[in-house]
Amino acid sequence: MKTNGDEYYLDTQAVRDFVAAVRESIAASTSAEDACDAIRPRFAELLADPAWLATRFRESAPGSGMGGGIGQWLLFRAADRSLSLFSLVVPGGSETPVHDHLAWGLVGLYQGTQDEEIFAERNAALELVESRALRPGDFYALIPPRDDIHRVRTTSPESSISIHLLTNDTGCVWRHAFDPASGERQPFRSGYVNVACNDT
Ligand SMILES: [Fe+2]
Repeated sequence: MKTNGDEYYLDTQAVRDFVAAVRESIAASTSAEDACDAIRPRFAELLADPAWLATRFRESAPGSGMGGGIGQWLLFRAADRSLSLFSLVVPGGSETPVHDHLAWGLVGLYQGTQDEEIFAERNAALELVESRALRPGDFYALIPPRDDIHRVRTTSPESSISIHLLTNDTGCVWRHAFDPASGERQPFRSGYVNVACNDT
């Protein structure tokens, strides 16, 4: 499971090949935008492949740090915590808090459907700047500060599953959850269902 401190919780050739390709793309890029563009084809392949995500990472999680039975499952984490790959399972009718990520990366839908609302902080208040409906195979780049604050809601009867590739240890870093009405922000650490954060 561990290679040079890298942690593979879904330790398959498909995941190892994907991570290796992502690292090559990042090393060869001069900006987050360029890296995201370079990773896009491999990310699209991952979203289109129905087989690689083991069933245990498709489960919801009652009592999770995200609330709403939302399961955040860590699949891979780099030794230096500069890259993580995880699945986010949001049960039908459930929604995440409004939250940020504090890192750039790609997020795409693997199963089910979602509505996503994107917010911007303006004068200490939150403004809804975009709403979009997502279907399996849809994905987007998150490049803070643009597009970093959002909320997703599952609109399908079945759980939605999104795949996140982000350049931090998203589940364990302290980030923020927001009250969309007041704009007030709270420290937020979602954790992972399957991996403890310790004191990072
Ligand atoms: Fe998110």
